[in-house]
Amino acid sequence: MPVISNKGQIMPQSPIRKLVPFAEAAKERGIQIHHLNIGQPDIKTPQVALDAVKNNAIEVLAYSHSAGFASYRDKLASYYKKNGIDVSSEDVIVTTGGSEALLFAMGSITDPGDQVIIPEPFYANYNGFATASGVSVVPVISNLDSGFALPPIADFEKLITSKTKAIVICNPGNPTGYLYSEDEIKQLAVLVKKHDLFLIADEVYREFAYDGLKHHSVMTQRDIDAHTIMIDSVSKRYSMCGARIGCIVSRNKELISTAMKFAQARLSPPTFAQVASEAALETPESYFTDVIEDYVSRRNTLIAGLETIPGVKVAKPKGAFYCIAELPVENADAFAQWLLESFQLDGKTIMVAPAAGFYSSKGVGLNQVRIAYVLEENLLKEAVEILRAALKEYKE
Ligand SMILES: Cc1ncc(COP(=O)(O)O)c(C=O)c1O
Repeated sequence: MPVISNKGQIMPQSPIRKLVPFAEAAKERGIQIHHLNIGQPDIKTPQVALDAVKNNAIEVLAYSHSAGFASYRDKLASYYKKNGIDVSSEDVIVTTGGSEALLFAMGSITDPGDQVIIPEPFYANYNGFATASGVSVVPVISNLDSGFALPPIADFEKLITSKTKAIVICNPGNPTGYLYSEDEIKQLAVLVKKHDLFLIADEVYREFAYDGLKHHSVMTQRDIDAHTIMIDSVSKRYSMCGARIGCIVSRNKELISTAMKFAQARLSPPTFAQVASEAALETPESYFTDVIEDYVSRRNTLIAGLETIPGVKVAKPKGAFYCIAELPVENADAFAQWLLESFQLDGKTIMVAPAAGFYSSKGVGLNQVRIAYVLEENLLKEAVEILRAALKEYKE
């Protein structure tokens, strides 16, 4: 029997998707499932993006430039300028989702055996991207009691070794919903400069900042231009997850020319999806005002509901559309599976993402789940009641 690689064997399963077979079985039994497990917004994609594809007369669906359409990169640079991020189109490579941008970033700055430090809980696929690159994730723990604020800089410094290549942050955070303050971004800037590290900032949820708070991009810290790599995506911004378009942005020319070699190896990002993404930049501001209003209202409904369930603890998210909830169970993994296999309330149940997979420290987050509030409010209210009833019935 030919042997699978060690890397392949240790490649983690996605905690967001691993319960899918149980959900499919539940659906076959006629159970309706409220999906709180996945960040697939139910928000409509902007019409202008859909129309651009519909009305396109392309006759040969050709490769594009490996860095993406020149016209799209120009418009992206303008979009960033509008958001206070002064970059030119040469600082941008269009990728197949933010996922590929993360892979290009890791591929460009790490060698097998290197380390990246990431505040945990973090977007679970960082584990997968790190494993694929032969890199170890070194977690620095943030906690629910502080709302998952940036851990003290001294905690990062304790973990820095000659193998450390980068600090990775997600802002606003998936799965925490935490939005870093300007002061926290400045502290990180000082840290990466002092230790000559890269700072990879995943800013795919940039627009989703609530309660009048402002998003602070790492790209505004001009004294660390050589260190900063920004990851971006159209997936959540325009509810275009299936387009598979993102980008990697950096003012570090050597980094971009290195990432460009990875981009050339995969030839080009998808052509039709770039047409849609370029057009999406014309989305009227009112779209975001409405969407953000929706998310704030959903968040408020969800958090208020969760707070009334005995034993449930939750930090109010300030951005993105996720929260981490601590449940009165020992093993949220088993509970999440039980919800799909053995529980229903009036023919309905919920699917949540066990949070342990969002940590790389073993044994942490075992009693937590990630909940995405990407459903309408009446469904979220129902989901809270299902969770309340399930926790009453559940025997560990
Ligand atoms: C924090 C974060 N980064 C990156 C991604 C990858 O997004 P995509 O590859 O769809 O652009 C996601 C998707 O959920 C995410 O939540």
